[in-house]
This record gives sequence, C-alpha cells and structure tokens, in this order.
Amino acid sequence: MRTTRRTDRIEPKQRSDVKGGGPFSPRKLSQDPWRMIWRRGFIRLVFVSAIIWILLMLIALLFHVWTCQSTTASPSAVCRRHTKMFLMLESIIVPKPLHRCPIPVLDDPYDIVIPKGRTPDNILKDLQYSMVDEGSPPLFGGHLQWKQREDSFKVNETMKVHCGFMKDGGGDMDAVDVKYVKRCRFVVASGIFDGYDTPHQPTNISRRSEKLFCFLMVVDEKSLSLIEQNVTVRVDNAGGKWVGIWRVVTLHNLPYDEPRRNGKVPKILTHRLFPQAQYSIWIDGKMELLVDPLLMLERYLWRGNYTFAIATHKHHRSIYEEGDAIKRRKRYARPLIDLHMKIYRYEGMELWRPDKGTVSDVPEGAVIIREHTAVNNLFMCLWFNEVDLFTPRDQLSFGYVAFRLRAHFRFFMFPNCEYNSLFNLHRHTREHSSVVEWVKSLDELTGSNATLKESRGGLGLWTPYPANLTSVEVPFVRRGSLAGRR
Ligand SMILES: *[C@@H]1O[C@H](CO)[C@@H](O)[C@H](O)[C@H]1NC(C)=O
Ligand SMILES: *[C@@H]1O[C@H](CO)[C@@H](O)[C@H](O)[C@H]1NC(C)=O
Ligand SMILES: *[C@@H]1O[C@H](CO)[C@@H](O)[C@H](O)[C@H]1NC(C)=O
Ligand SMILES: *[C@@H]1O[C@H](CO)[C@@H](O)[C@H](O)[C@H]1NC(C)=O
Ligand SMILES: *[C@@H]1O[C@H](CO)[C@@H](O)[C@H](O)[C@H]1NC(C)=O
Ligand SMILES: *[C@@H]1O[C@H](CO)[C@@H](O)[C@H](O)[C@H]1NC(C)=O
Repeated sequence: MRTTRRTDRIEPKQRSDVKGGGPFSPRKLSQDPWRMIWRRGFIRLVFVSAIIWILLMLIALLFHVWTCQSTTASPSAVCRRHTKMFLMLESIIVPKPLHRCPIPVLDDPYDIVIPKGRTPDNILKDLQYSMVDEGSPPLFGGHLQWKQREDSFKVNETMKVHCGFMKDGGGDMDAVDVKYVKRCRFVVASGIFDGYDTPHQPTNISRRSEKLFCFLMVVDEKSLSLIEQNVTVRVDNAGGKWVGIWRVVTLHNLPYDEPRRNGKVPKILTHRLFPQAQYSIWIDGKMELLVDPLLMLERYLWRGNYTFAIATHKHHRSIYEEGDAIKRRKRYARPLIDLHMKIYRYEGMELWRPDKGTVSDVPEGAVIIREHTAVNNLFMCLWFNEVDLFTPRDQLSFGYVAFRLRAHFRFFMFPNCEYNSLFNLHRHTREHSSVVEWVKSLDELTGSNATLKESRGGLGLWTPYPANLTSVEVPFVRRGSLAGRR
C-alpha cells in the first residue's frame, strides 16, 4: 500500500518535469546537474576505492608469493599452507598452454636437400668404448668407479668411456640382425619390452623416406612372442622378421631386472646398436608416428644447424620439480629418488632459472632426434651411465649430463606442443608397475624384501658415495603448475 502511495506522490512532480518540456528547460539546468554531479562523484568514489582496494590486495599477494618463492631453502609453514591457493590463482591467471600445435615442416619431403658428409667434430675426435668389465660377474653397464665417472665428463680429443655392451654383460643381437642394420644410415628406432605393446605402423611416410630409412623395432623375447601371437610377422629370405614397415630386432640376455631399464638400451644407446647410422629418430613403442621422418630431420636438425633435438617437458623445467613429481606419482622407490637428487645437488646442479642458458633442464624423452656425432655419442654414453648407476628415470639425468658437458653439447629443445603433434599415443596394453615404486624407506629394501633391490642396475645408489651427503639439502620446490596430478 505504502509503495503505491509513494509513487503517487512522486508522479506529479515527474509529470511536471515532462510538462516543463525538453532538455532545455531552465529547471533542469539549475537543479539536475548538481544531483548528477553528486551521484557521479559518489559512484566514482566507490569505484576508485574499490580499485585501490583490489590493487592493495594484489600487491600484498604478489609480495607473499615472492617471499615464498625466494625462500626456497626453508619455506615457512604459511607458504606451504597457501600453495594450494596460489595454484588455483595461477590456473586462473596463467593461460593453459596448447596441448598440440602445428609443426612448421616443409610441404614435400622430395624438396629436402640432404646435407653432404657429416657435421665436423670440434674437440672430441675419437671416442672409444670400454668393452671389458673388470668386475664379476660382468655387467652390461660395467662396474663404473666414481673417479672414472668424474673423468668421463672432461671432454678431450680422445676419450674412452663406459657405454654399455660389455663383454658377457648381455644385450645380444642375432647375427641376421647385426648384418641387416649395417646398411642403415638413416634410422627410425623404437622399442617394446616386457610385452607392453604391439608395433604401431607410422603414417604419412613418403616413398622417399621409406627407401631411405630403416625402421627398427627393438624387442625382447617376451614381447616378440606376444607380437607373434597377436599380429602377422613376416619372415624374409635371410630370416629377418618384419611387422609392416618395422624390421624387428630381438635382444637376448636382457641386461637388467627392471623392464624400464632395459628399455633405455635401444633408446639411449642407439649408436651402439646401430653403429653405421648417421641419423636416428627414437620414438617410444607406444607411439604412432604421424610425420615423415625426413621432414623431421629438416625441421629439427638441418634448418637450425643442430645435431640433437628433444622436446621440453610439459610441466617441469627443474630436475628437482620433476623428482618431486616422480615421488608423488610413485614412479620409483622414493628414498632412491631422494638420494639421486642429493648427489646431483652435491655435485653442483642447481634449480632451473630463466638465466641458466637452457630452455629447460627436463626433457620429454619419448622422441629424440640426433646426428651421431662424436660429442652426441659421448653425451648418450654418459646419460646412459647415469641411468645405469642411479634410477631409471632418465628425465632426471638428462639435464645433469647437459650441465656437466656445458657448451660442448649443443642441443635444440623444441616446444612440447609440437612434440604432441608428432604422434598418436596408444595406451600400453597394460600399465607398467613394480613393487619397488611403493617403497617409502630404505629399510623396506632389506631382509625378506631384499629381492626388490635391483641386482644389475642402480649400483651407484648402494655403493658408498665418496663424500658425506648427510647435510645436503635438495632445493625446496613449490608444487606448481598442476603437474604430477595426472
Ligand atoms: C686432454 O688430455 C691431455 C692428456 O691427458 C691433457 O694434457 C689436456 O689438458 C687435456 N685437455 C683438456 C681440454 O682437458
Ligand atoms: C597425415 O595423414 C593424415 C591422414 O592419415 C592426414 O589427415 C594428415 O594431414 C597427414 N599429416 C601430414 C603432416 O601429412
Ligand atoms: C595380444 O594377445 C594376448 C593373448 O593372446 C592378449 O591378452 C592381448 O590383449 C593382446 N594384445 C593386443 C594389443 O592385442
Ligand atoms: C647454418 O650453417 C650454414 C653454413 O655454415 C649457414 O649458411 C646458415 O646460415 C646456418 N643457419 C643457421 C640457422 O644458423
Ligand atoms: C616389503 O615391502 C613391502 C612393499 O614395499 C612393504 O609393505 C613391507 O612392509 C616390506 N616388508 C619388510 C619386512 O620390510
Ligand atoms: C656426516 O655429516 C654429519 C653432519 O653433517 C655428521 O653428523 C656425520 O657424522 C658425518 N658422517 C661421516 C661418516 O662423517
């Protein structure tokens, strides 16, 4: 009732305004501007104070983030507690990077001019491999001493390093395969171990690349028998086995107990398995390649005068971030990851920083494109030795070896979104897992559980380190960027 009465009271006035006519009526000029100015001023005041308030809040927040990030060694409890909030904020403020993006490859593989000869080697001219392991029983990776490891990082004109394939250490190829791979100068290599996959046929391979490249699929006996059950394996006149475009190469007497470590043999030691190869492209066994390999060599190596290319990791740029994520996702025994990271910290490996001169310290290692130059071969040997000595998580040791070789090893790290455009991912037929991944403390690896301890790999984690690591602190990492929650 009241409201209607009130409107009644106001209405006549409004009517009179209207009657007073038009915007130029003298009453309007004398009264309304003051009211309007007052109203505007009030709105402005509210507006400005809101903005100032928001700015103050932002400054306080940024200061908080900044202090939390700069006190990496001993983060306050407040910082830790607030990390979740920052993550939420970060996901709102920072746009999500593209998963896939177009790869700037040339249109036609037939247009590519393959460089003549080899990229010259500057300092290292002659790289030799130790072939005999003095320890007993002989191991595939050898019994590497700490001193030998240290010396192997000093690049010189002639070097002799451990690089797997020790006499009687396992990892043997059939004679028919050894003979076949001698003809391969351009290689696309892949591997399947422990029966996790069957080979995926690459698509978009030009006739030129089909003739130029050897497509070599390295498998163990177990995977071979599974492949023979599931897909058609063609046997040629010489006795070589084929699945579609892939020439299947079987490794006998596997070097390690862990299938994951065995998988690193063809991936990292491609130059030892296929010694005549000048170029190789490694792709993980679960991937179906979508891009012509000759186009890849042009885009990733020849165009930028590079001899080595690898993608950046999707989330992490510091090995300590990645180590933390591996522990959370339980991808290897947590105390052993800790020890691995402690050793790298002690040996001078720092957190990644923008001014470090590298795009990232952590690669996405499922695709590796390289020319087999002496220094690249050295890098791969040293990388392999780290994998052999410590944990099989090779994304942790890549950045460390690159850091040790410094300017000697020049490589191209391309965007992760391009990497995702290179292939279709097929799920493993079953998921990798082993009990060792659930181990929380070293005590769990003794007594009745001692069999969990690998007998032929990771020996560096069980041999006394030549320094006291007790007080070494692994850098604190902010659990950032949504990673590790996959
Ligand atoms: C290479 O080795 C030689 C002989 O062992 C040594 O004198 C020289 O200093 C080394 N060069 C470098 C760059 O380390
Ligand atoms: C690869 O082949 C698919 C079809 O199989 C096609 O859609 C795609 O455009 C091709 N990609 C390239 C880079 O040729
Ligand atoms: C291969 O065959 C085995 C047994 O015959 C089966 O369990 C497995 O799922 C098959 N894998 C694929 C990828 O077809
Ligand atoms: C690569 O090297 C060649 C010859 O040395 C040079 O002409 C070319 O400009 C270089 N390209 C890049 C991207 O550095
Ligand atoms: C053996 O390992 C399992 C899995 O890590 C663990 O649950 C168990 O407690 C260990 N046993 C001993 C005796 O340490
Ligand atoms: C290692 O260092 C810690 C303190 O940093 C000390 O307590 C411990 O006794 C040292 N161990 C050895 C074997 O020197």
